[in-house]
Amino acid sequence: MSAPVVTIDGPSGAGKGTVTQLLARRLGWHLLDSGALYRLTALAALRGGVELADEAALASLALGLDAAFMPSPGNEPARVLLSGDDVTNEIRTETCGDAASQVAALPAVRAALLQRQRDFAQAPGLVADGRDMGTVVFPDAGAKIFLTASAEERAQRRYRQLLDLGQSVKLSALVADIEARDERDRTRAASPLKPADDAQVIDTTGLSVEEVLTQVVAASGQA
Ligand code: C5P
Repeated sequence: MSAPVVTIDGPSGAGKGTVTQLLARRLGWHLLDSGALYRLTALAALRGGVELADEAALASLALGLDAAFMPSPGNEPARVLLSGDDVTNEIRTETCGDAASQVAALPAVRAALLQRQRDFAQAPGLVADGRDMGTVVFPDAGAKIFLTASAEERAQRRYRQLLDLGQSVKLSALVADIEARDERDRTRAASPLKPADDAQVIDTTGLSVEEVLTQVVAASGQA
């Protein structure tokens, strides 16, 4: 491995995105938002009229994905570009998240994105956010963290994030959506969502972002 890696895995809404961003900034390391790659593949498929079950066509889309992450000033997350088009907000919709979870279940799509993810491990280091960062993509990572939270709290967090993005959603629909997506992520044959054997599991239910960050910094071994 070319640089030190800290992996942060867990289900939707466990707080991975926020904590990954804060940890990467604190350490001055690169960041990999692997979920964005699955969301971009799904968006490219939706735009191109590719069936979400056409594994070969989706793998080829994933392999050729023209994706770019542009750092934003201040505390804003990176802008995400698909073929030069700013799709930062579009990939965060529930439609795109659900489609991402469908394409992510296909082994050929996962294989197509594997090397692209590993290429993010550059000096001085990488904080990688996803579902299989510690189990499959970076099995030799120096520190592996798995964040969890109750389904209700995860739905509440997603709800607030979507409202902030100006998207109107019903909380009850979101709970059902999150549970269905997690079930698919956990039970798929290819790289299912689960903590690596050597991961440190942190339950973030009821914790503030600062409290989670303190625990994550300690677990990362970079304090
Ligand atoms: O993390 P995010 O919600 O953006 O991920 C969207 C979907 O992409 C997840 O529900 C999951 O199905 C898939 N994913 C994955 N492996 C990763 C990251 C995301 O399967 N490493």
